[in-house]
Amino acid sequence: AQNKKALFIIFGGTGDLAYRKLYPALYKLYKKNYLNENFAVIGTARREWSDPYYQEVVYDSIQEIKKSDEDAKEFASHFRYQSHNVNDTENYISLLKLADELDEEYDLEGNRVFYLSVSPSFFGTVSSHLRAENLITENGFNRLIIEKPFGSDFVNSDVLNNDILESFSEEQIYRIDHYLGKEMIQMLLALRFGNPLFKKIWNKDFVSNIQVTLAEDMGVEERGAYYEQSGALRDMVQNHVLQIVSFLYMDEPKSNDSNAIRKVKVEALRDLKIINKDNINHNFVRGQYSSSKDNLDILDYVSEHEVDPDSTVETFVAGKIESTHENWKGVPLYIRTGKRMKAKKTQIDIVFKNDATTFFPAQEVKENVLSIHIGPDEGLSLQLNNKKIGHAFEIEPIHLTYQPSADAPEDYERLILSALTGDKTNFVHWDELAESWKYIDSIREAWTNADSPLYLYEANTNGPKEANELLENDNNYWIWN
Ligand code: BG6
Repeated sequence: AQNKKALFIIFGGTGDLAYRKLYPALYKLYKKNYLNENFAVIGTARREWSDPYYQEVVYDSIQEIKKSDEDAKEFASHFRYQSHNVNDTENYISLLKLADELDEEYDLEGNRVFYLSVSPSFFGTVSSHLRAENLITENGFNRLIIEKPFGSDFVNSDVLNNDILESFSEEQIYRIDHYLGKEMIQMLLALRFGNPLFKKIWNKDFVSNIQVTLAEDMGVEERGAYYEQSGALRDMVQNHVLQIVSFLYMDEPKSNDSNAIRKVKVEALRDLKIINKDNINHNFVRGQYSSSKDNLDILDYVSEHEVDPDSTVETFVAGKIESTHENWKGVPLYIRTGKRMKAKKTQIDIVFKNDATTFFPAQEVKENVLSIHIGPDEGLSLQLNNKKIGHAFEIEPIHLTYQPSADAPEDYERLILSALTGDKTNFVHWDELAESWKYIDSIREAWTNADSPLYLYEANTNGPKEANELLENDNNYWIWN
């Protein structure tokens, strides 16, 4: 591993994301020697914390993965804390002083990664202060990593983006979608373009339908206030789901260069058939969870902490996406995501056309299905028809499966390393974001204009029955159920 030198300044350093994801990811990079002596972290947030307290928090966050106590302490010693009001110029001046000291102490050569894990309303303020108060160095690289949500609709994310662009160039901006750091999402490209077998059949002639499921069994937990503003459409569909959709639909890029990949992804998003009030109710279903008959501890969504008792925010979305691309005409791509579903399951199913002949009548053969298991278990499985062992000549479905055995790097670990090496392939370019917001806005507006129903579904189920009907109307059914 080649050792990287950098100072990280994390806005939102006391937050849940930093604790659960960022510190453990940095520790893993440290253990693999991508970071060693030459890195330091400044955590900043509103709260008044001391350095020792902050280091204790960092140390706690890696308890389950630490190699030894000593090692964890050494790692935590690279962390400093500064309490910070994002609007106060004075704070940036002291941040600069601390940054320069650490740069000197750890020999960081002016490399800086600014990590914004705060409300989008602060993105503009923070980036303009970083520029104005000279936190951006002349000698090293300066990169701005931005967490979601990146705005709440196209217009507002455009304003947000322009605010940031006054201080950082698109080249320096790394918009996170942590799904792009997942092993199996990256494997999709290898699968699609590394196998002549799939390349030839990845189109309307052979594919019957595609299904993308991002199911969660959790409720909204402590994030009610955030979730009330977002709902499932903005929380999961705008980003993770549409990123997956663009990988599934896109043409083969000219090369494996990040610009070439981005180009075809943007085109794929541009080709999505826009939703309007006349087609919305045939194509999209929204739902909200209610309590469970079997588990009395589970609350209705509207009874959750910081949720409006009259809330009409959706915790579930199922939809039928269509592309206007020549290759995909008439192939529905069904998506589904929700809280409080049966299980945590992220899965893509490619269902191939059932090409039964007189040799095998259609009722005897199952469809060939390629399933890509993204999480929590990773792997692939291909459903084929095979002869049943025995004297009779009967067929039955079998599954060829693959499970990656290696200890795959986790999403945040991979993305932070990419940001350190300046590889933008797995970050979201503004052009992708703009297209995905436009599509999402069309759904939201259509829901309002068509006065679409919000269906309640019982917790621990896979959403309202209307989500099944969406497929049944096309003579299809959900592969994972
Ligand atoms: C986040 C959403 O982006 O993704 C959460 O805000 C959701 O609501 C999470 O729980 C799911 O991510 P993963 O990696 O656990 O599938």
